Amino acid sequence: DVEQSLRPTRLAQYIGQSKTKENLSIFIEAAKMREESLDHVLLYGPPGLGKTTMASIIANEMGVQFRTTSGPAIERAGDLAAILSSLEAGDVLFIDEIHRLPRSVEEILYPAMEDFVLDIVIGQGSEARSVRLDLPPFTLVGATTRAGLLSAPLRDRFGVLSRLEFYNIEELSMIIKRTAEIFEVEIEEDAAGEIASRSRGTPRIANRLLKRVRDIAQVRQENSITLQTTQQALSMLQVDIAGLDHIDHKYLLGIIDKFQGGPVGLDTISATIGEESQTIEDVYEPFLLQQGFIQRTPRGRVATIKAYEHFDREVQS
Ligand code: ADE
Repeated sequence: DVEQSLRPTRLAQYIGQSKTKENLSIFIEAAKMREESLDHVLLYGPPGLGKTTMASIIANEMGVQFRTTSGPAIERAGDLAAILSSLEAGDVLFIDEIHRLPRSVEEILYPAMEDFVLDIVIGQGSEARSVRLDLPPFTLVGATTRAGLLSAPLRDRFGVLSRLEFYNIEELSMIIKRTAEIFEVEIEEDAAGEIASRSRGTPRIANRLLKRVRDIAQVRQENSITLQTTQQALSMLQVDIAGLDHIDHKYLLGIIDKFQGGPVGLDTISATIGEESQTIEDVYEPFLLQQGFIQRTPRGRVATIKAYEHFDREVQS
């Protein structure tokens, strides 16, 4: 599966996130020297930055099985108990969107993480009794868009907390060239740089844009992806020179045109542009903040001069 092969399988192949890689490589090496399971790891940050990939690499580097599930997929305590009781010593259990675990499920996770035991209730009413089962030591790797979405007791049970950052253009260029090689297509250096600078700091977006640019180069029967084709493709895809898409535009122009540049509350923006508050906060705002198109104030979001300039608008005063 080509899609799967885009994911690096070892730490040494993983481009970017140098701080996370450096830390994890030490913790992994130490755990292996002690012949212990790795401490539980929480990976957080905006979508598409490689949380799942990093989790699978942790399992590969530890030489253990990689088991995956997600917060919304685990509805009842029994669902999680079934997964936990099937783990083997040292395994990595990856729970994506871990902030969406139901509270009742979270509660059986605490003793499992802390003492590797499963407390389950069997029987009902006066017959009900609690039994404690031993689990093999395992590593929970949780992923979430924001660490603040987790309950404090859950967050406190992770020994390693690591925030994934947006990638710089150089790193994204390397990823795009690596992906092009896997796809067996030629891409010119400046074309790779162009996609990189318009990918919102996000490998998932870079790889998606590369695929669409490749489609256009292919139907034009070009044997190498050029800068010109890339620029035309990205304008067709409505990705602007800063990498902002149609929804970023609605968001920023909404603040500028309807609210005189703000401050305006998240829920008001959400209602105005018809996107969910949570999606705006987790998917769109982190990049706009990092790039300095908006600021967050106690009274709401404000469009910056950079945002006005991006749309060639005069700043109102
Ligand atoms: N493909 C997607 N993300 C990647 C990364 N961080 N390193 C290498 N290849 C990737």
